[in-house]
Amino acid sequence: MNTPESKQNVSEEPMILDHDCDGIREYDNPMPSWWTGLFWGSMLFALPYFAFYHLGGVGTTIADNYETEVGAFYELQAAKLGNLKPDAPTILTLAADSQKMLAGRNMFRANCATCHGPDGGGLTGPNLTDDHYINIRKPEDIFRVVHDGLPTKGMPEWASRFSEPQLVLLSAYIASLRGSHPSAPRDPQGDQVAPWSLPDATSDSATTAAMGR
Ligand code: HEC
Repeated sequence: MNTPESKQNVSEEPMILDHDCDGIREYDNPMPSWWTGLFWGSMLFALPYFAFYHLGGVGTTIADNYETEVGAFYELQAAKLGNLKPDAPTILTLAADSQKMLAGRNMFRANCATCHGPDGGGLTGPNLTDDHYINIRKPEDIFRVVHDGLPTKGMPEWASRFSEPQLVLLSAYIASLRGSHPSAPRDPQGDQVAPWSLPDATSDSATTAAMGR
């Protein structure tokens, strides 16, 4: 019964599809059921998945998780720094601490570089590396400007984004940029400001405060 002839008689002809490509013809073999099962299964899975992560804002995407982790990292950094005061000794002591300035540099590159350039040389925002400042005379002024922003001049406020110790860290990084040599500096703007220095008498207590020791 299973001879080639009988197979021929049962007729496989209807199973052969109509089209013919250079003499190559094709059987109408159905997809295996496990394959179609997977296909429809993944289609059905995709609909609620898409709605959950992308429409309702219920699920957390990889990008959300990343932002949470970065935020947590900064939180941790700030917590380790303790309760930093936005005064000149603390800012200048931190500015001299190259390790802590790595954290300041991260924050600067992620949030400020779009306007002030990756190395602080200035783009739409002013050059932060020269001796000229528009709104700053003392190191504390850096904190004030970064904290409150200059809303009418295009400089955003950062108090709603960062905690106070983080803003002190960032201000210290800005102070540390002074005297550095960016690749494409903008021309100086504002008034020349006398160099800032750490009075020796306060530097010890400031170091102690800044290091949390
Ligand atoms: C959207 C663009 C923009 C971003 C982002 C931005 N700034 Fe500014 N920033 C400006 C502009 C514009 C000014 C100049 C305001 C003026 O003309 O007085 C300025 C001024 C400043 C000044 C005062 C400079 C001076 O000479 O008086 C400091 C300090 C400063 N920015 C720090 C920061 C820090 C720190 C960040 C990131 C946390 C930051 N900026 C992010 C646009 C920006």
